[in-house]
Amino acid sequence: MASERTLSIIKPDATRRNLTGRINALFEEKGLRIIAQKRLQLTQAQAEAFYAVHRERPFFAGLVSFMISGPVVAQVLEGEGAVGRNREIMGATDPKKADQGTIRAQFAENIEANSVHGSDSAENAASEIAFFFSGLEVVG
Ligand code: CMP
Repeated sequence: MASERTLSIIKPDATRRNLTGRINALFEEKGLRIIAQKRLQLTQAQAEAFYAVHRERPFFAGLVSFMISGPVVAQVLEGEGAVGRNREIMGATDPKKADQGTIRAQFAENIEANSVHGSDSAENAASEIAFFFSGLEVVG
């Protein structure tokens, strides 16, 4: 399988509990490389733009207010089949349904405060990476 890149976000519930290092260790132990990373406080407009695809969903307003409730860590992960690999490492969106050993099974508080985001396709990964990083900031 080819090397790929995916966009990951460590969400405010995880940064609040000081879990950035433990989550990063899981990515690295499971074969992904962190090739770009920055901690930032999203504005409401930025969070709404990032999750625009979910605009019509009933959980949109809650999701946006959660995502701006504290700092996030945006990162680019690289590795063989990184998009799918990261989704395996994260586990299901709802931590009640996430397999044992996944990030969400270990750390997520609930379906909204679920500790991490990961791109769901290679196409979305490219646009999500461009949302957070310039080419100069991604060093593979
Ligand atoms: P994420 O992978 O960041 O993509 C969209 C986010 O919306 C998802 O993780 C969850 O945090 C959130 N989400 C998805 N479904 C629900 C739901 N039913 N209720 C609340 N939040 C949700």
